[in-house]
Amino acid sequence: MNEQIHNFLAGFTLTAIISVFALPAFATTTVEVYKSPTCGCCSKWVDHMRDHGFTVVTKDVGNQKIRQQVGMSESLGSCHTALVNGYVIEGHVPAPDIIRFLKEKPDALGLAVPDMPHGSPGMEGRRVDPYSVLKVNAAGDTRRDAEIYQRYDPHTKAPAAATATQSEASSSIMRLKN
Ligand code: CU
Ligand code: CU
Repeated sequence: MNEQIHNFLAGFTLTAIISVFALPAFATTTVEVYKSPTCGCCSKWVDHMRDHGFTVVTKDVGNQKIRQQVGMSESLGSCHTALVNGYVIEGHVPAPDIIRFLKEKPDALGLAVPDMPHGSPGMEGRRVDPYSVLKVNAAGDTRRDAEIYQRYDPHTKAPAAATATQSEASSSIMRLKN
């Protein structure tokens, strides 16, 4: 074998072994995403979740039926609904907030980012609007019942992940790739 190729393969194998051992505990967490097959921003959010180490299984059947079944109010509705570890994640919720939520394991239905705010993960573009990640405490709760779990406002302060200390920031990211 050509030595250059051999060295390349050896380096690659070593990197692969190191990455296996560097896998964080949540790396195998599977997220089931109900979305429309033609939704571009849904696919981008799926990529965002994979970039943060989640395993994503997509169900291209739309999300209205599942949203109703799990009791996520339509007033909190967005373009896709995801299920993870028994929780419901509605819409373009940033992965670091989901990771924090899964670590806290609160007694709640899940998290929601209603509608599709510009600038949220999967909705990146020139326009960046403020938005809130809402904690939905129980099935059937409406937007009014939900609490603010994390606020993103480009005009006041950077999102928590950006202002967190080094250790907090790294613990809130489940990257498989570096
Ligand atoms: Cu969307
Ligand atoms: Cu979507």
